[in-house]
Parts: sequence; structure tokens; C-alpha cells
Amino acid sequence: MCGIMGYIGAGKAVPVIVDGLSKLEYRGYDSAGICIFQDGKLKITKKKGRLTEMVQALGDFPLANLGIGHTRWATHGVPSDRNAHPHADCKGRIAVVHNGIIENYASLRKTLTAEGHKFQSDTDTEVISHLVEKFYEDSLEEAVRKTLKVLEGSYAMAVVCADQPDIIIAAKKDSPLIVGLGEGENYLASDIPAILGRTNRVYILEDQEFVVLTRDHVAITDFAGNPVSKEVFEVTWDPVAAEKGGFEHFMLKEIHEQPAALRDTMRGTIKEGLVDLSDFGIDDICDGVQKIYIVACGTAYHAGLVGRTIIENMALIPVETDIASEFRYRDVLWHPRSLMIVISQSGETADTLAVLREAKRNGVKVLAVTNVVGSSVAREADRVIYTHAGPEIAVASTKAYSTQLLVMYLLGLHLARIRRTRPEARLAQLAASLNCIDQGVEEVLSQQDKIRQLAEKYQGVQDTFFLGRGLDYSVAMEGALKLKEISYVHAEAYAAGELKHGPLALIDEGVPVLALITQDCLVDKTMSNIKEVKARGAVVVAICKENLQEACQECDEQILLPDIEQFLAPIISVVPLQIFSYYMAIFRGADVDKPRNLAKSVTVE
Ligand code: M6R
Repeated sequence: MCGIMGYIGAGKAVPVIVDGLSKLEYRGYDSAGICIFQDGKLKITKKKGRLTEMVQALGDFPLANLGIGHTRWATHGVPSDRNAHPHADCKGRIAVVHNGIIENYASLRKTLTAEGHKFQSDTDTEVISHLVEKFYEDSLEEAVRKTLKVLEGSYAMAVVCADQPDIIIAAKKDSPLIVGLGEGENYLASDIPAILGRTNRVYILEDQEFVVLTRDHVAITDFAGNPVSKEVFEVTWDPVAAEKGGFEHFMLKEIHEQPAALRDTMRGTIKEGLVDLSDFGIDDICDGVQKIYIVACGTAYHAGLVGRTIIENMALIPVETDIASEFRYRDVLWHPRSLMIVISQSGETADTLAVLREAKRNGVKVLAVTNVVGSSVAREADRVIYTHAGPEIAVASTKAYSTQLLVMYLLGLHLARIRRTRPEARLAQLAASLNCIDQGVEEVLSQQDKIRQLAEKYQGVQDTFFLGRGLDYSVAMEGALKLKEISYVHAEAYAAGELKHGPLALIDEGVPVLALITQDCLVDKTMSNIKEVKARGAVVVAICKENLQEACQECDEQILLPDIEQFLAPIISVVPLQIFSYYMAIFRGADVDKPRNLAKSVTVE
């Protein structure tokens, strides 16, 4: 998963590309590179490390009107200068940037090497530049078309050639790519934020689309060369919405954007006091469904776990929630009247996409819950419900998670209404509470300082435990993921009742235990487990609803949540965990928005 940026026009290519790449660093940031056309030659600069390293190596920005750039997240070959993109052919007259994986690169490389091509890197990508070189006669377009015929795998790529400095060729299969349309200049990018502020007119490329980009023209065909007519997508996002907006980090900004994101996602979902998603066109695929599979990865999977409880409880449909990378390789006993729900913030997660396709192959309709309009998941699913969280830049998912949870509730309530599985009065009460849940989140956000102080106190710990029962357990899993991913503190989530079956042995003097206590019906049970860890020396921080404060008195610290309906608590109880993780990362000096070894969008399996 990498970021691609390209420019062709009368303006200066380098600053445009560097700026675009800086907006794409969430896609990968172990190395960066740029290729420009200057003085009749292609000039490549690439460096291991963050984009700033490459920019330093560039020195004064050279003048050029054409260029392609890349931020990399390594898949084949370690992060290094020589493995960074762009990759050139033997003579340095062709250069390629690529996002994806060339699955047959090993055999292609063997053949090309036998034919005399000299490879400079360990990447799969480099076979592309050598193949284009091999096929090049006098047309870059033809050479790339021939190259695509022998490639297997996934790719978004941009190719330039010193002999044709007036075009960029691009192609897409299974990795995202867009074209930005300017006046006398055009852009290529992996994602819209890279070109926001320069143009709001884009083409979102589909798989098997091939682009010839000049400064005045964009020609799109399929791989066979047949013209493809596409509609221009007008981006309505405010460019500043993709910036940090006064916060020190994107993650903190995105945590604070949750009330607005929840309101946006809620919009248009309530009619006559009840949740009604009929306008989303999902009723036909939900009709008569007897089994639901919810499949996702990471944080989105955790939202799916909450989704299972909600849908089973509300709509009385059995739900199986699974991790996409597991689901895709197990022998699923497909229920003949089932529905697949895939959840993905980016809409580009490789494993989730593979499950979506597998479901469709098995005749199962797919409903996608995603945050990215025009993403692969959105395009390939039968129906889509968007989370309106806006661009999420920080690798750690926050506002995407809370809006995914909200969609799970909306779905549960909608299904319950059309299936008449719950009394209308109950559905109306839950709809009303959901409709003002943003206020509960605001209340928790106002406790940021208190949570920051807790993080300051516990910043030096090595291990932490997150406990809960029922819905609290699902949120505990998300809290533990958040803490480990950005602060690098070991964090384990456990169902509170499971502790004594093994993990209790790890509890020792001073180990922090964060206990989620929002389920009124389970509070006594959870408190018994808390007594067990306290007896072994643990320090317990309770994240509890105000009305349960007294029951939680034995905990060492308390973060109080508004007294919300227990069923809806996850949307609120996750917020202190997000803030705690954020400040733990800050106090430990970690790179909050770009945690080590991770990337925002996981487009390889
Ligand atoms: O884009 P997706 O929602 O499909 O991404 C799934 C996971 O990669 C993602 O949620 C990941 O776990 C987050 N970095 C966690 O904060």
C-alpha cells in the first residue's frame, strides 16, 4: 500500500507532487521518491524514510513540468533507497511508480534477467519498468499495454518515458487511482486529498482502466483500448477538512470530530421517530434474510462485534462476525438465505474485498459499510451505507469506528422495524437516544484533561489489561488495539469472566487494568472480577456510567460516562480509551499519526 502522485502541465511539477505525497503519507511512509523530466532526461531522487528525507535530498526544487512521485510501504524488499520508487529500466529512460503486488514478478524477473536486463532493486515493481523497456518501440502507450498483458496481481501505476515527455501513462487493477482535472494541467493520485485544493473535478478509475494523461487531455480506455466514458466526480469536501485544523495531530482532531461525524451519519435516517433506512435501497437484499455474516479487519472488525450483539438483539437474526483474513480461507457453510455485511473505513482493505468477492461468487448479497465514496468495496458491493466520518488520516481509526458503530445500531433498529421484532415504543426510545448520542460524546471529550493526567501517571507501564463483559468486552478489544498500535504498550483485552482461566497469572503489583463498566445488568459480575485483579495488586481504572459509580467505588480511578441506555454505551465508552491511548503515545514520544510498522490502508493481504 503506497501513495502515487503525478503531474503534467505548465506549472512546476515538484512542489505539486511533494505536496500531494505529503497528503498520501498515511498510505505508506518507509521511503519516498520522485521522477521528473529535466534537460532531456528523467531525473530520479529517492530516499529511505519519511518524505522529508527525500525532499532534503532534492535540495532546491528543480524545474520540471512533468513528474511522478511515490510514498512506499514495503512489501517486496526492505525499506531502502534502492527499493524506493520510482524504478527505472536499464537505460534510465523509463520510470514507474506502483501500488500493489505483482504476483508473478519472480518468474518475470528470471526471464528478463536471462534476456540481459539488469535489476537494481529487490522489488516486484521493477519488472514493470523492464517489461516496458522490452516492449518499447516508439509508443509508451503500446509498451505499457503489452506489459499489462503479462502482469498478474494488483496495481495502480504511473509510467513516464524520456522519449515522450508530454504524457504520463497510468493503469489500475485492484488498487485505487484517481485523475484530477485541471486547466492546462492534470494530476494522478492514489486518493482525493492529494489533489484537494488544486481541483475538485476528478475521475475515479475503475479496475482495468488505462489512462493517457497530457497537460490538456485525459483519454481513458479499457486495457484492450476501447474508449471508456466516465462521469466527472465533483468533490465537495472542504480542503481544510483534510488538514489538522489547529490540533497537534490528526488523531486528536479526528477524536474531536466524532460528534459531528455522528450527526452527519445520522442525517436522514429517522422518519416519524423511527430509524428508517428504506431510502438507502437496502430492503430488497435484507428481505427474508435468516443469517448475517459481518466481516472486517482491525477496528472495523471490532465494530462488527458490536454489530452482532445489536442485530441479534434487535432483529432476531443470527449473526456471525469474523476477521476477513480468517473468513476468506475457511470453508464457510453458506446459509442459503444470508446477507454479508462488510465494514471498511477505507473500502480498500484487501482481505475484506476478497471476502466481499467470495460472498458474491456464492450468490450472497453484500452490503458495504464504508467511509470512502468510490472505493473498491463501495463499487463492488450490492448496496452501500456510508459512514460520513470525512477523511480519516491518522492510522489509528477513531471517528470511523464510532460512525461504524452508529451504522450497526441504525441497521439493527431498521431491521427490527421492518421485521416487527421489537415493540415500536422501544425502537422509538432507542432512535431518540441515538439521535442525541453526539452530546454524550461531547461530554466525554470535555474530560480530556483528566484522562490526559491518567495517561501521564501510567506512561511508564509495560503491560495493561482491558476488561469487560458483553458489549463492554467488544469495546475493551478496541481500546487495547488503540493503545498497542500507537503507544506500543502491551495491551490485552479479556472478557472479564475469562481472566481466571489463565491470564490472571499475569496480574501483578501495579499492573493497570482498564475496566469497562456500562452494562447495568452485568455490573455485579464485572465487579467480582475486578476484586480478583485488585487482590493481586492491579490498579483498576473504571470507565463507568455515572449511575454505576457507587457500584464501582472499589476501583482506584473512575472516568465517568453520562448515564446512557446501556445498549448504546459503546459509542460513548470508546472515547476515553481513544484519548487515553493518544496521550500515552504522546507521553512516550511515539509518532501518533504514523505508528511504526503500520499503514492506514492495507491493500495487500
Ligand atoms: O480501512 P479498513 O476499515 O478496512 O481498515 C481495517 C483495519 O486495517 C483498521 O481498522 C486498523 O485496524 C486501524 N489502524 C486500527 O486503528
